[in-house]
Amino acid sequence: MILPGSPEMKAQLNAAFDLEPSLALVKETQAIYDRVDRVIPEADWARHAPYVLAINKMKREKDAVILAHNYMTPDIFHGVADIVGDSLQLAIEATKVKESVIVQCGVHFMAETSKILSPEKTVLIPDSRAGCSLAESITAKDIEKMRRDNPGAPVVSYVNTTAEVKAASDICCTSGNAVEIIDSMDSDIVIMTPDGHLAQNVAKQTKKKIVYWEGACMVHVEFKADELREYRKYEPDAVIIAHPECPTDVVDEADFSGSTAGMINYVRENKPEKVLLITECSMGSNIADEVPEVNFLGPCNLCPHMQRITLEKILWSLHTMTEEVTVDPALADKARLAVERMINLKI
Ligand code: 13P
Ligand code: SF4
Repeated sequence: MILPGSPEMKAQLNAAFDLEPSLALVKETQAIYDRVDRVIPEADWARHAPYVLAINKMKREKDAVILAHNYMTPDIFHGVADIVGDSLQLAIEATKVKESVIVQCGVHFMAETSKILSPEKTVLIPDSRAGCSLAESITAKDIEKMRRDNPGAPVVSYVNTTAEVKAASDICCTSGNAVEIIDSMDSDIVIMTPDGHLAQNVAKQTKKKIVYWEGACMVHVEFKADELREYRKYEPDAVIIAHPECPTDVVDEADFSGSTAGMINYVRENKPEKVLLITECSMGSNIADEVPEVNFLGPCNLCPHMQRITLEKILWSLHTMTEEVTVDPALADKARLAVERMINLKI
């Protein structure tokens, strides 16, 4: 098998497509480039444009749709994605798309969620090594032990989990609906997995007792409250927005906390003159052109898993119809119950 990103993949792509950087193709893709020219120099777009055109053509040929998470880089987010969003939006959209092929530009658990919700569709991920430190932190056996230790307590698992863990849970949640999902549980004690920071942030907003697994997002755990206080000293007018996967003292320093879609909406609606987005740093680049009056300051932490998805690998994925994501049908049936319970709550 040829590995995505390998020299063999590049050689085969170059044999099949004309991928030479081209200023003429910048002109041909001008409408798309206008949405990213604040963050991508023209010389770089000249390299992206041949891929963008080839991918968009191949999508039509293969009856494919591209679902892309808000953390994709702007060349993907604006250049080739059909639907963009946070984990909740992508899960909901996966149930609605008409195309027979879904190319999931995000990490593996997101592609698995799409497959669970649309078992009849072919779901591709451009690089199956795009994992997640949260999804890797817990197994179904760990959930069973937590159930034994907390008899009767329902299990709410973040969508950042494998199909096996979803199947062992009662219901899923995302960062966009976690408080409401916990509040909807018919029990005073709720088990929440796998993100310990999200659980502690939610615990501050609910009367339920939350017993949680101590997993962490390797990106958000790196943000420090001290660092934010330093920024406040030098940029007192800057608005700080933090993702709830950050530690509680970081979220406490922020002016607003929400899912990636919630963070984007906050910037769109409030247009702060200066903002720090305390999350994966591709997100600021994705909305920079839309809000030219906003200055994006602050630390840049990238998710190495999300960064595995590139235009090159997306083109390879469509060209070869790889890497297909499969989930054992019996496991998928159980996992679907947990995801659909979340979606059906319509929070
Ligand atoms: P969102 O659901 O807020 O998009 O978060 C997903 C994720 O992986 C954040 O790190
Ligand atoms: Fe997982 Fe964190 Fe990367 Fe999101 S940012 S995919 S939670 S490791």
